[in-house]
Amino acid sequence: MSQTSKDFNTLEDFDYRGKTVLLRVDINCPLDKTTLKIVNDSRIRRVVPTVRELMGKQARLVILAHQSRKGAWDFINLEQHAEHLSRHINAPVRYVDDVIGKEATDAIKALQPGEVLLLGNVRAIDSETAKGDMMKQSEGEIVQVLSPLIDYYVCDAFGASHRSQCSLVGFEPKVPSASGRLMAKEMFALKAIFENPRRPSVFILGGAKFGDASEMIDRVLGNGMADTVILVGLAGNAYLLARGVDIGEASSKVLQEELTPENLQAAKDILSKYGQRVLLPVDVAVERDGKRVSVNIGDLPTKEPALDIGDATAEKFAKVIMASRTSFMSGPAGMIEKEDFAIGTRMLMTAMVDSGGQSVIGGGHTGGAAERFDLADRFSYVSTGGGALETFLLGEPLPVIEALKYSREKHPAER
Ligand code: 3PG
Repeated sequence: MSQTSKDFNTLEDFDYRGKTVLLRVDINCPLDKTTLKIVNDSRIRRVVPTVRELMGKQARLVILAHQSRKGAWDFINLEQHAEHLSRHINAPVRYVDDVIGKEATDAIKALQPGEVLLLGNVRAIDSETAKGDMMKQSEGEIVQVLSPLIDYYVCDAFGASHRSQCSLVGFEPKVPSASGRLMAKEMFALKAIFENPRRPSVFILGGAKFGDASEMIDRVLGNGMADTVILVGLAGNAYLLARGVDIGEASSKVLQEELTPENLQAAKDILSKYGQRVLLPVDVAVERDGKRVSVNIGDLPTKEPALDIGDATAEKFAKVIMASRTSFMSGPAGMIEKEDFAIGTRMLMTAMVDSGGQSVIGGGHTGGAAERFDLADRFSYVSTGGGALETFLLGEPLPVIEALKYSREKHPAER
């Protein structure tokens, strides 16, 4: 974790007056599955300081962002995101549903100092997500089309900084680049807390993506960043399976393609290597006749899928968290969209803030849940990063940070 904010340029390093600035943000938001409306816009609110600062400096501001991934139910255009941003900055945000076509380039050329334009979902362009390192991405069509139209590139997309994608790492070699305020703040705050965590330190890993969990557990228990890891959400279910518990077909099905033989073996290896330092649920909550019912692990399988940790698990884990001096949560413990199955997440988060220790949560959905529970202000730090934060905690280089460092060498600060 040797990355510091001054390895790369930050906002004050350039003079943006009258210049066209391309700002890449991560405003990938949780949506309501039925209405497709944004249910929590905290990631939009977190980039407001950078947007306001650039507007105040009379930049002609072009914003680029993504929402979800092509093919996913929540892959939508960014019209709503523009409305939310406009409300938060109290100024118009023009939206064009185009990224590199004539509508987008004409709109960029027409921008006046202090004006803001949001382009369409950048992941609508297939080459955005094509694999490649910084140099390859810098030849991508998005960079080819947009870089001649801009003077500076600013990246404030901490939440996506673990992705080596075209709009995230491709501009830095071509255009003088800087980090936005959120990116610099995230790096600074996380480094301050995790370089020397207070003991005992507990990591709570949950959420929907469990494929990377084993590597993360091995690293943080191995390097002493965490004393104990608590597994909830899909990771908890997958690890129960690895311990030999028959979680039932419905729960296994939810794990989908991440339930590979390699991932299961990795989970088994972690359990035998770390034993009681990895805590698994002792019961799960399922929906039966429209009600939340806790089922002991010994009484599994059930025909219903597990939607949350059970009540006994929530109590047991809350006690462990209360005794910690550092706690970190990435990903919720259950299906927080349903009030009855948000109980586990709420109890664990409450224990985190009540513990009086340093408490950090990360990820778009986790941060949103903390706001819904009215707990967000009580955490030591709420990160916008999910996967990015995990990559950071693993001590692995973040491609966006590496690209910004490269850019600083090539295009040093002007002021
Ligand atoms: C996130 O929500 O973690 C970021 O927006 C990155 O999204 P991705 O995992 O689809 O790349």
